[in-house]
Amino acid sequence: MQVWTVANQKGGVGKTTTSVALGGLAAEAGKRVLLVDFDPHGSLSCYFRQNPDLLTESAFTLFDQSQTLNHNVIEKLIIATPFSGISLLPASTALATLERKAIGGGMGLVLSKTLSMVFDDFDLCIIDCPPQLGVLMVNAIAACNQLVIPVQTEFLAIKGLERILHTLQMMARSRKQVLTYHIVPTMFDRRTQACVSSLRAIRNSFGEQVWAGKIPIDTRFRDASKAGVPPHLYDVNSRGLAAYRSLYHFLHEHKPGIPASAAGGVG
Ligand SMILES: Nc1ncnc2c1ncn2[C@@H]1O[C@H](COP(=O)(O)OP(=O)(O)OP(=O)(O)O)[C@@H](O)[C@H]1O
Ligand SMILES: [Mg+2]
Repeated sequence: MQVWTVANQKGGVGKTTTSVALGGLAAEAGKRVLLVDFDPHGSLSCYFRQNPDLLTESAFTLFDQSQTLNHNVIEKLIIATPFSGISLLPASTALATLERKAIGGGMGLVLSKTLSMVFDDFDLCIIDCPPQLGVLMVNAIAACNQLVIPVQTEFLAIKGLERILHTLQMMARSRKQVLTYHIVPTMFDRRTQACVSSLRAIRNSFGEQVWAGKIPIDTRFRDASKAGVPPHLYDVNSRGLAAYRSLYHFLHEHKPGIPASAAGGVG
């Protein structure tokens, strides 16, 4: 199983949209996909018509029962969606309490341990992170073998990027594996000068770490989200979907090392 984490400390940059779009395209390619909602707001869960306010079994259970986790416990938390090949480990609002509690020893590797227990059940796991650094993002980064950082093409993007790359540097010190990351420009509008110049600035500052393509602004994503349907099943001809398709192939072909969770090389 490959594990991709979608993260940025900045809100509203397209993390959840990227997670659903990539997950859908992987399912379309015949992969068994597990989407993990690690955001207490539960946007990804809401996308699939789950209510994070009502769920009693969720990603929170992983932390609540971290000492007694096993395949059976985890299997019960995972929900089949109406879409072929896509399963969901939903969020509940209880996840928010984790950030207030002390992380404590070992809490940074709960997701790594979880995924190692379902390693053979899925081909790809995509983790949608909340827009802040905390125990959830730390877990998601420790568990992945590729990190996708969506960045909105706007003026303040570079500041936000510097912040998350600083976080990554700190985490790299405690992680015994090199972390592969890709910056993905999102919501690009070629008619807007601010978008064009920020994309240029992002490429100039972060060079090869920036994916060569860009995700255009496309109202179909919001429509697909409202309809609760992954983008690849909503409008096969949308420009935005075509861009995510090319991103999916890039990430899929990139083939970084084995997941940190399986290697036991995090900590
Ligand atoms: N390429 C795009 N074009 C147009 N709208 C988009 C695009 N990507 C995302 N959106 C819309 O922008 C909004 C924010 O996107 P999304 O929820 O994916 O961001 P996020 O980073 O997950 O936000 P948060 O930090 O709050 O979790 C949503 O309404 C989504 O439908
Ligand atoms: Mg989100």
